[in-house]
Amino acid sequence: MFTLLLFLFSVLFAWTGGTSAADDGMPFMEYLDPNRLVCLKWGFDNVQGEITFQLAVNSTGWVGFGFSPSGEMYGADIVIGGVGPNGNYFNDYHAIGEFMPLLDKEQSYTLLSMVENDGQTIMTFQRAIQSCDNEDYHITAKPIKLIYAYGTSDEIKYHGPRRGTKEVNLLNYMPRTSNSSAKYLSAKVTNVTVPSNKTYYHCKVMKISDLSTKHHIYQIEPDIEHPDVVHHMLLYHCPPGVTEPYDNPCYMGDKGDMCFGVVAAWGAGGGVYELPEDAGIPVGGADNNILYRLEIHYNNPQQKAGIVDSSGLRLYYTDQLRQHDVGILNTGMLPILPVQYTIPPNASDFHSYGLCNTSYFSQFVSPVPNLQVFAVLLHTHLAGRKIRVGHFRNGNQIDFLGLEENYNFEMQQTVNLGSIKTVMQGDEIIVECTYDTKDRTRPTKIGLSTYDEMCLAFLYYYPAISITSCLSQPNTTLLSTTYNQSPDPKEHADYEEMLKTLPQVQFISDAKRRPSVHINGFIREMMASPTVECQHENPAKSLCTSCIANMGGVILSLLWMVV
Ligand SMILES: *[C@@H]1O[C@H](CO)[C@@H](O)[C@H](O)[C@H]1NC(C)=O
Ligand SMILES: *[C@@H]1O[C@H](CO)[C@@H](O)[C@H](O)[C@H]1NC(C)=O
Ligand SMILES: *[C@@H]1O[C@H](CO)[C@@H](O)[C@H](O)[C@H]1NC(C)=O
Ligand SMILES: *[C@@H]1O[C@H](CO)[C@@H](O)[C@H](O)[C@H]1NC(C)=O
Ligand SMILES: *[C@@H]1O[C@H](CO)[C@@H](O)[C@H](O)[C@H]1NC(C)=O
Ligand SMILES: *[C@@H]1O[C@H](CO)[C@@H](O)[C@H](O)[C@H]1NC(C)=O
Ligand SMILES: *[C@@H]1O[C@H](CO)[C@@H](O)[C@H](O)[C@H]1NC(C)=O
Repeated sequence: MFTLLLFLFSVLFAWTGGTSAADDGMPFMEYLDPNRLVCLKWGFDNVQGEITFQLAVNSTGWVGFGFSPSGEMYGADIVIGGVGPNGNYFNDYHAIGEFMPLLDKEQSYTLLSMVENDGQTIMTFQRAIQSCDNEDYHITAKPIKLIYAYGTSDEIKYHGPRRGTKEVNLLNYMPRTSNSSAKYLSAKVTNVTVPSNKTYYHCKVMKISDLSTKHHIYQIEPDIEHPDVVHHMLLYHCPPGVTEPYDNPCYMGDKGDMCFGVVAAWGAGGGVYELPEDAGIPVGGADNNILYRLEIHYNNPQQKAGIVDSSGLRLYYTDQLRQHDVGILNTGMLPILPVQYTIPPNASDFHSYGLCNTSYFSQFVSPVPNLQVFAVLLHTHLAGRKIRVGHFRNGNQIDFLGLEENYNFEMQQTVNLGSIKTVMQGDEIIVECTYDTKDRTRPTKIGLSTYDEMCLAFLYYYPAISITSCLSQPNTTLLSTTYNQSPDPKEHADYEEMLKTLPQVQFISDAKRRPSVHINGFIREMMASPTVECQHENPAKSLCTSCIANMGGVILSLLWMVV
């Protein structure tokens, strides 16, 4: 009997696991109307640049959804479908006025399924994010006015009041919840005198909560007094051995320099970050007494004196525990000693790499769960131009976990991925950074200053495991004799290749900072970044001007969600 129950349970769980995996393709959801009768889910696939929508409307009549420049019908790109007496219907239209939209010459949307159930019509469909059809709307990583309408029957006619609009940033979705009565923990410094040095790292080790039971942080908001100098902030939790609070310059040998479990990260240009609905960063409870280290990087290029700053982060929390505990894994290149190499001056695209080989995770955690990565924060300093995070399984690259082809030091933020990506035990994560040092006459060190360089990717995932960083650096003891700092670009390629092929020394540590070091990693080749091609049936139209305009710039990063 018990076995049978167990069996039923496992079948049930296998089954629910299956449905949630399907949902993972559409991690985002918004009600488009105030009465919660029109629900839109969506997600997008990085590689093909397709976006999938599921529109669920409490109506058995026709349902319509579209993108509109103004929120009105005029100029809108619209799909209308339903389950009718003669079967399913679904078409791509465009509106040229406040009347029945016209059928597109090119039908650019694909219907995946159409279901009518319990008085609700659920229409699932897909299109290319970047359409080359002038009758379709080009989706960008900006807020877009979505429109909807529906009828009470399948005869497509005037919708009356059953219509509306809502502005949503589909490709860079950050739900905006302002709730002035919501509770938050404050992790901030008080009256720090910022020295007139160009670069200054201040560290404050403190207790941030008195929560005796476990809570979840669901939103992180910067609380910045001097936006001109506060460049980035990281909040780490400390191992239990760190018991003394302090308020000092960082990395002066204090014990708290060992607090390296990232809890929250914010970079210049970033805003409020809200975690997915089913996940939260744990705080309080058994961890009640642990200390946190807030690290603020002040960037003061004008070397202003006399700035006294009180900045930090607000961590909004709830006692309504969410399904998953979130962890943040720091991957990329170990930025601190003993790295011995420099980036040569006068290089237009010099590459650095860091490896995270999750094969070693089993030394810390057993069994290692599948890590569901839902957001990423990419980080380099001033010379950084591109960051790519390759995801490898069985020696082959299967995906990118982050891709920023137009990295901007001033615009760093945690960005949700378009779909949830699964990192399995044994997968490898390679972070590649591209630097431009054409304006420099001296070599650039790897290090903590803004004028040094870093190459990091913070992966937000669940369920949380105890591992906090998984970084590497090339074993440069083997490099000393052929060390190259030449400004001659002809020599850069050889030097870069030499660095890339040196054995990688890998550093993996957990929240208790038990580093494990492995010395023989290597950097695999990364695939070319996907480009947007207009997959148009009419080859003459395939080089449409909007695509050319977009290709030159932002579209790759839009596709990959890393702004
Ligand atoms: C819409 O329909 C669904 C499915 O029948 C139902 O669960 C939900 O309560 C309905 N919503 C409203 C606001 O009536
Ligand atoms: C705002 O936060 C309070 C306290 O956490 C909560 O009780 C309330 O339901 C929230 N309101 C909204 C609209 O989310
Ligand atoms: C910080 O400085 C302000 C202004 O001088 C002062 O009012 C406040 O008491 C100071 N706070 C602390 C904790 O020293
Ligand atoms: C600021 O720069 C001076 C001179 O280079 C140096 O001696 C000092 O240690 C620096 N202060 C901090 C807090 O980094
Ligand atoms: C920098 O590189 C350019 C070619 O990209 C080369 O013409 C120039 O001589 C280099 N500058 C120095 C100082 O070597
Ligand atoms: C780097 O390589 C040298 C020579 O093979 C080796 O002796 C040394 O242990 C390596 N260093 C690290 C940190 O693995
Ligand atoms: C990752 O570790 C596994 C097991 O030690 C090894 O076979 C594999 O080559 C490593 N991958 C890289 C890229 O170093």
